[in-house]
Amino acid sequence: MERPLRWGIIGAGTWGKTHADLIKNHHLTELVAIADLDKGRADALANSYGASSYDDYREMLAKEKLDAVSVVTPDFAHAEPFIACCEAKVDVLLEKPLATTHEDLHAMYAAYKKSGIRCMVDFHNRWNPPIALAYEDIRAGKIGDIVSMYYRLNDTIFVPTEMLAWSAKSSILWFLGSHTVDTLRFFAQSEIKSVYSLSRSEVLVKRGVDAPDVYQTMVEFNNGVIATMENGWITPNTHPHWNDIKVNVTGTKGMFNMDLTNNQTIERYLEDVSDHPDVLIKPIIHGKPTGFSYASIVSFIERLYNKEDFIVSFEDAYKDSKVILAIMESSEKRQIVEVSY
Ligand SMILES: NC(=O)c1ccc[n+]([C@@H]2O[C@H](COP(=O)([O-])OP(=O)(O)OC[C@H]3O[C@@H](n4cnc5c(N)ncnc54)[C@H](O)[C@@H]3O)[C@@H](O)[C@H]2O)c1
Repeated sequence: MERPLRWGIIGAGTWGKTHADLIKNHHLTELVAIADLDKGRADALANSYGASSYDDYREMLAKEKLDAVSVVTPDFAHAEPFIACCEAKVDVLLEKPLATTHEDLHAMYAAYKKSGIRCMVDFHNRWNPPIALAYEDIRAGKIGDIVSMYYRLNDTIFVPTEMLAWSAKSSILWFLGSHTVDTLRFFAQSEIKSVYSLSRSEVLVKRGVDAPDVYQTMVEFNNGVIATMENGWITPNTHPHWNDIKVNVTGTKGMFNMDLTNNQTIERYLEDVSDHPDVLIKPIIHGKPTGFSYASIVSFIERLYNKEDFIVSFEDAYKDSKVILAIMESSEKRQIVEVSY
């Protein structure tokens, strides 16, 4: 075996820790350094994994001779670290979405093409077992041609009001709608031609978060498939899991129904609380990270190491962000918008 890949992480928050857990545990990777604008956060995560810590990712890129970097900064802050990695010729696993503005998307596209680096954007639902299984059956023609789809992907209100410090600088469309669009494109194997979306802003603004509560969106693909997607950020916190996920895929010969509000397989009742612990997304089993959130990172590592194509291409993520921008434009204008790629 060649030496393990020297790895850095930019962004030491909730999801940076998810990356660190896996990178530290995988035999093909060595977790070398962690950078965060907040040095205290970088120090805390780096110290617990025996890595170096930086408050300036450019210094980390200059000093550490890294093979790959996970960019795990907030949704609106992906462009600058990504472009710095392109300039340093370091391969990148970037958290979704690729970017949240046309300007950032175009700058990232240009830097990526110029650099020749390899990049995957972490749309980990492609590794979510029911979605991956349905994808294989759809490819095998088991439900015929897809006619229509429905996809609800909502979060409890805990996420925008308590978990994310930057929710008003993103939205449920970027945070989860980007996953919805990716999965619909993955199933349809076609590009989204036009979108029509309505949104409402009632609950979150009253809670001090300037972001829409919900988007209800209809999309039409070039191959004729139609789909409805719902992305909401106000599901009550009493919901048994932080996500509420329902999917239907209807074809000419068959259909899938999925209740991906996972973890209903185990109910935990303690003295003062009951819940449904996570068994699917990122549980730690016998001390090892498992679940589809880790499976996507493993896939990136192995395909990078073996020089194989990634499951999600840079172009997939670029088009995904273009669709989200069209949905935002549609909900503002209350009109059908053709997606311009
Ligand atoms: N939280 C989740 O459940 C989850 C799940 C999947 C993906 N993601 C994605 O991961 C990304 C990060 O989300 P999070 O929940 O970890 O956010 P977070 O707020 O917990 O952490 C983000 C970290 O990035 C740091 N940061 C911001 N700008 C930076 C910069 N320019 N350079 C270095 N560090 C910088 C912040 O100080 C913070 O520590 C987002 O794109 C999000 O959509 C999050």
